[in-house]
Amino acid sequence: MSLVSRLMPHGPSGFGYGSTAMEVTEGLDLTGRNILLTGCNSGIGLETLRALTARGAHVIAAARTEEKARAAAAGLGDFTPVACELSEPSSVRACVEQVKALGRPLHGILCNAGIMALPKLEQRYGLELQFLTNHMGHFLLVTGLLDQLADDGRVIMTSSDAHKTTPRGGVQLDNLSGEKGYIGWLAYGQSKLANILFARELARRLSGTQKTANAVHPGVIQTNLGRHMGLLPNLGLALAKPLFLKTPEQGAATQTWAVAHPGAAHLRGEYLADCNVATSTAKARDMDLARQLWETSEDLASRL
Ligand SMILES: NC(=O)c1ccc[n+]([C@@H]2O[C@H](COP(=O)([O-])OP(=O)(O)OC[C@H]3O[C@@H](n4cnc5c(N)ncnc54)[C@H](OP(=O)(O)O)[C@@H]3O)[C@@H](O)[C@H]2O)c1
Repeated sequence: MSLVSRLMPHGPSGFGYGSTAMEVTEGLDLTGRNILLTGCNSGIGLETLRALTARGAHVIAAARTEEKARAAAAGLGDFTPVACELSEPSSVRACVEQVKALGRPLHGILCNAGIMALPKLEQRYGLELQFLTNHMGHFLLVTGLLDQLADDGRVIMTSSDAHKTTPRGGVQLDNLSGEKGYIGWLAYGQSKLANILFARELARRLSGTQKTANAVHPGVIQTNLGRHMGLLPNLGLALAKPLFLKTPEQGAATQTWAVAHPGAAHLRGEYLADCNVATSTAKARDMDLARQLWETSEDLASRL
């Protein structure tokens, strides 16, 4: 446990900065709960997979390939490995069909997978790759599976405090290709803002039901996410780790709590950090932007 996590207090939920995914699920029996988790094979996704299976959940474990998912979940408990390459719409749609065919109601869809700060503009299907992977891939996945969501099902989007650093306008709906200007960190921030706006708009659309949608900032954790950052920033992270960074077990806590803990069942359209409600930017609470993003995403999805 880092020095900071030792010193940080717990919030109203009873958990806080230093809590781990195993701690926030202690005493829970998740037997009979089916949770779809993307990015199950690395970083905080792998820790989330460990905690959820340890508490008896059936995890539909998604990775870029079924082999990766199977290898990650091997020996962990009750799981179904599925392939879901988020930057490839045909793979996401195949995943949707495979999950539907399982015939299990989904008590949670945890959209954890992501890529960060690609140094140069990369595009696929005419879209900037972080927007395509982090937002559009998950948009296709979740909207494709809404009918499968259990009556009390929860959708959790793994966002980031990086949503506070975005291009002007928050989400540049007229520059989703990145061709009118690209800075890797801002494009990452834009995709993470899109995750929050998607959760808020979905929560609005689910109002009147017990189904919920929320977004999460997991904290700052040294994982494979930094693979595009270069040597120096990664060295800086390694040096900061013992003092300031969360461990992957701590980084997995907020999303695990949000998807599984009874104390999070009432939350709707919130931004969560350290297992409690947190404050997002004004742009992340802009419901006009959330609606516009949803409509743009629907339009893009129809052409992908
Ligand atoms: N680490 C942090 O400090 C931090 C802070 C704020 C938010 N987050 C968010 O936390 C989430 C998990 O990140 P992490 O730190 O655990 O990073 P990580 O160790 O790099 O894990 C990312 C996961 O996403 C998967 N992924 C990436 N691109 C994909 C694609 N096209 N299709 C399917 N899966 C894909 C990766 O699969 P492969 O292994 O096959 O590439 C991996 O399983 C991300 O959404 C990230 O934005 C992390």
